[in-house]
Amino acid sequence: MRRSNPKTSATRRSAPLKILNDREKFAIPPSSSPSDQLQSSNVADSIEIPEYMTGLDEEDFFHGLLIKDDGMRMCKHEGDFVVLTTEISPSSYKSVYVLVKHKDEVTEVNIKQDGTKFCFNDVDGTQFDTIAMLIKHYHKRNLPIFDDYYLKKPIPKADWELLHRKIELKQKLGEGAQAQVQRGLFHGASKTPIEVAVKIHKGDLTPDKLIEIMHEVRIMLQFDHENVVKLVGIASCRAPFLIVLEMVHGGGLNRYLKIKRNEVTAMQRICMCTDAANGLSYIHSLGIIHRDVASRNCLYSQSKQRVLISDFGLSQQEEVYAVDPSKPLPIRWLAPEVMTTYQCTKMTDVWSYGVLCWEIFTNCKDPYSHIPRQTDVMEKVVAGLRLEFAPENVPQPMIEIVQRCWDATPANRPPMAEIVGVMLPFCEREFKAGKKRQKSREGNSRRPIAADPTHESNSPQLQRSIQEKVLKRRSKRDHKATDTPTLTGRRKAKKNFTMQ
Ligand SMILES: Nc1ncnc2c1ncn2[C@@H]1O[C@H](COP(=O)(O)OP(=O)(O)O)[C@@H](O)[C@H]1O
Ligand SMILES: [Mg+2]
Repeated sequence: MRRSNPKTSATRRSAPLKILNDREKFAIPPSSSPSDQLQSSNVADSIEIPEYMTGLDEEDFFHGLLIKDDGMRMCKHEGDFVVLTTEISPSSYKSVYVLVKHKDEVTEVNIKQDGTKFCFNDVDGTQFDTIAMLIKHYHKRNLPIFDDYYLKKPIPKADWELLHRKIELKQKLGEGAQAQVQRGLFHGASKTPIEVAVKIHKGDLTPDKLIEIMHEVRIMLQFDHENVVKLVGIASCRAPFLIVLEMVHGGGLNRYLKIKRNEVTAMQRICMCTDAANGLSYIHSLGIIHRDVASRNCLYSQSKQRVLISDFGLSQQEEVYAVDPSKPLPIRWLAPEVMTTYQCTKMTDVWSYGVLCWEIFTNCKDPYSHIPRQTDVMEKVVAGLRLEFAPENVPQPMIEIVQRCWDATPANRPPMAEIVGVMLPFCEREFKAGKKRQKSREGNSRRPIAADPTHESNSPQLQRSIQEKVLKRRSKRDHKATDTPTLTGRRKAKKNFTMQ
């Protein structure tokens, strides 16, 4: 994980904050028209690769663009090896290199070209047409690639490292500041392909950009929660680099609420806020700060009527993260202390969560829309300006807890777990689930309870019992969360992957 250095934040303070262009942040994908529907295509077919890379991505030892640090961590024992590349628009064979463990160190070994053939430096001079043939020759025959360096054990791809040929791209689903997302089909182990969403980053894949993307991937590999979008895998062996996600029909929550503005009831909005709180509480329990909580970064599953938190491009696994002021920040969602101290914590997510609840009840209006300039928004929020949150048909405790999200003192804001505890009993769906559980416990002896959570007969005991269950569930999850998987080990949850 990248480490932020809080000490450097003082020196950064003088730099002006880069304010994200609203149009970037609010880019609402047009409904897919035939013109933006890509021809259904198998990604591997559409990309030409140079001859020297023929067959390389099919080899288990080839991990494409995984960064060197990750490759080094994978080589644990003498002779363990992986093959990586620093670029996937394969303009030069020089980008491909071998990492091999020898005498407690992992060494990078480069490949040499002689005419049109490939060999290792300083060895017997045996030459091959492709890099895959070269590596396999030394591995299979147990020959040294130089001195006493042997390619003994290839470290295979993890099950989340996918091949491009297994991914079929369909039409565009949406677009954010960083990436375009397309519907796709993943032809995995099961007979029928799985419908997926494929995120393709815009612009050049520079080494820094790659580190950022892999950072997002590492964060997502840890997730297994119904309110957090799941990562199916990445395809990193060829261009373009693909992040493959579970498909959420309904797409961006912002777009959904704008389109269905007159159909969404207050109760559904309460459940949306509860879902988002649940997802964020889980993310926080893993020690991760999301840093870009907003409706544009939530997805809505229509079939399950469920909100899922997504877009972990800015997320950090830190208690306190020093913000780089040269990078764009979502000012209208930002807690005031970030603008003054340049530090993010889970409590800055709590502030943004309050803004998300406000969005959910205003069909995703632009926060502080009466203030056109973002620098003015910053100043006014620091001076005490707050959004108004008092929607009709919303229970008072819920209104109060959202308002507490905007306390100027981060420590006075409610942690996400507390917010979940307050909101869950008001979400009818959860309420009904609680009721069912209660019923099965109590048998026929229990007196009926009204479905309306604000009704008198919604007893405090019932609310408490639901809250206790939530806390129990959470402590189980927290326990699970300590077993953080690494890049080389796939989370068990992958096996339980379910489609929307
Ligand atoms: N898993 C998904 N299922 C369906 N649509 C998605 C999915 N992920 C993203 N999208 C669509 O793509 C848009 C941009 O995705 P996002 O991850 O926020 O990209 P960016 O990092 O560029 O902001 C979303 O608002 C949504 O419309
Ligand atoms: Mg986004």
